[in-house]
Amino acid sequence: MDTKQMISALVNSRQSIRAFTDQAISQDEIQEILELASRAPSGTNIQPWKVYVVQGNKKVEIQDAVKQAVIEVSENPELKGKYEAAFQYYPKQWFEPYLSRRRANGWGLYNLLDIQKHEKQKMHAHLLRNFEFFGAPVGVFFTAHENLHVSAKMAIAMFMQTFMLVAKAYGFDSCPQAAWNDYHEVILPLVGANPDEQLICGLALGYADPQHIINQYYTPRIAVQDFTVFLS
Ligand SMILES: Cc1cc2nc3c(=O)[nH]c(=O)nc-3n(C[C@H](O)[C@H](O)[C@H](O)COP(=O)(O)O)c2cc1C
Repeated sequence: MDTKQMISALVNSRQSIRAFTDQAISQDEIQEILELASRAPSGTNIQPWKVYVVQGNKKVEIQDAVKQAVIEVSENPELKGKYEAAFQYYPKQWFEPYLSRRRANGWGLYNLLDIQKHEKQKMHAHLLRNFEFFGAPVGVFFTAHENLHVSAKMAIAMFMQTFMLVAKAYGFDSCPQAAWNDYHEVILPLVGANPDEQLICGLALGYADPQHIINQYYTPRIAVQDFTVFLS
């Protein structure tokens, strides 16, 4: 395989994995993946990323604390809004064509899990799996100084994609997870972050569970001509 074929295969093989085995990853490999991911570009090379890798008891502590917060809100609807991301991630009101794509994605996953429209409890159980890193042995949180604004978010996005591709090359799978963002007030003190740090995204890292049906969901993409304008 030449480099072009290798990169194509690598890019096409990355997909969001939502069921992992508990097989551990060595510290050395995590270190190497982070080192390569840090080759990601950032405007004026500010390298705004800060990364927390959580495993073992610390991971369980964070998962338990966040799940408790999620359950607290689901059982007390008047608490809705108590946990919110430090910055607005999604629009408050969805609109087309994004609404349809988002719905297709949700139903693609729910159909595999055999979750019907009225089965709110099953949906909630699936949501809670986010806060177990979908069973992955390694959780990652990406933060940046709050005053860096969009520059940090763009750089971390690039870092994350590089991280996920490198991880794939090492034989690991991942799932980027903005779901954690609403719970930054719970998570950041538990990882020892500074008060000026913003939680930008979470990520699950591990070996995909090949038996789990949810990992069969390979998402579609719109055609190049539908999102590109060639001008000359
Ligand atoms: C920044 C970002 C945040 C995401 N957050 C979540 C999340 O919280 N939970 C989840 O299950 N998937 C999450 N995803 C995964 C997307 O649903 C997924 O990337 C998309 O459906 C395309 O599928 P693919 O990653 O398999 O190509 C996130 C993806 C990105 C890029």
